[in-house]
Amino acid sequence: MEEISPGLENVYIKYTELTYIDGNNGIMRYRGYDINELAQKSSFEKVSYLMLFGKFPDEAELKAFKSSINKNLALPDYLKDILRSLPEKSDSLGILQTLLSAKASEEGNYKYDRENDIVKIPEILGNVLSMVANIYRLKSGNNIIDPEPGDSYAETFLKACFGSTDKDSIKSMDSALILYMDHEIPASTTAALVTASTLSDMYSSLAAAIAALRGPLHGGAAEGAYRQFLEIGSPENVNEWFKNNILSGNKRLVGFGHRVYRTYDPRLKTFKKYADILSKTEEQKNILEIARKLEEAGVNAFGKKGIYTNTDFYSGIVFNAMGFPVDMFTTLFGLSRISGILAHITEYVETQERLIRPRAIYRGEKERKYPE
Ligand code: CMC
Repeated sequence: MEEISPGLENVYIKYTELTYIDGNNGIMRYRGYDINELAQKSSFEKVSYLMLFGKFPDEAELKAFKSSINKNLALPDYLKDILRSLPEKSDSLGILQTLLSAKASEEGNYKYDRENDIVKIPEILGNVLSMVANIYRLKSGNNIIDPEPGDSYAETFLKACFGSTDKDSIKSMDSALILYMDHEIPASTTAALVTASTLSDMYSSLAAAIAALRGPLHGGAAEGAYRQFLEIGSPENVNEWFKNNILSGNKRLVGFGHRVYRTYDPRLKTFKKYADILSKTEEQKNILEIARKLEEAGVNAFGKKGIYTNTDFYSGIVFNAMGFPVDMFTTLFGLSRISGILAHITEYVETQERLIRPRAIYRGEKERKYPE
């Protein structure tokens, strides 16, 4: 007898050599390397290369990879026109989705192949950096620019957004880009895989992924968690807010719980570290204190059910302390996820190519007469 699996829970749709997650023990590794060690010791460019091409780049490969990214920082004029023409109230993730779809319109005859990927993927990484930086610039009342290459992807991005930056912000951004790069196949990557499995182009697959990332159960959680802290306002209000809103069953605690983890999300360790380093103003320290107290209340109440803090609980604090408004959090998550999604879709298309086409069990009326 056919059975459905709601939410595709425990359904496996691909083999992968990219990300390993042990949800019971809070372990996450990219190609066997511990996620926090990568965030500490490596760079976005090296880890992207590792994910995409299966090994760390040597010096010449890294130079070529970075140079291809940097050659693609200038957006075509039509994308700049689209950026300027969208309504002021457009949210930043919606704009990113629109720009990716617009870019897909150029990709009519695109075919996946390894030789082409090495050229195509850095082009996409350069393009998306520029899209996201210019979305931020436009929404904060600045002009659209062609970003100037810095020493690293993180530095180029932050300088394009803010004009200048500092060492702690660059390291935190680089780490965030690595920590958020991949997470096996959550809803967004699955949406990209479904699209890529039809042999659609990479930009279309990314646009599909960004659409799925949007919701509060997925990419929108960092924003939701941060809005919770703002609503609470002060550490003294945490316990009462928790009792009235969460223990009462009125709301779910955002930034808590996960489909895979039954313990703390391992990426938290590094996000917490940078939340601590970057939170310097009284306002930032206040938010961090609220988060810590709320986390304690959440773990006390839900830990026994295997519901713990996920990475989105602290990532918004890091992004905000770098200077980004709440509306940008999901878009920054999207920027970080691009190379991971591209690694998954190339892995899928190259090794297990099969149209993803599940079934639904029909349970409506079997046969009816058209009403005369
Ligand atoms: N607060 C309170 N209770 C929770 C929470 C939470 N955040 N998450 C799950 N539970 C409870 C839920 O009420 C249910 O309890 P019971 O069995 O007594 O009815 C049980 O845990 C299982 O919940 P579920 O919704 O069936 O589990 P799921 O695997 O579908 O949920 C989730 C995963 C992420 C949608 C959920 O934990 C949630 O809604 N969390 C809040 C939003 C959030 O932080 N999302 C970010 C996820 S991590 C980043 C990413 O991967 O994008």
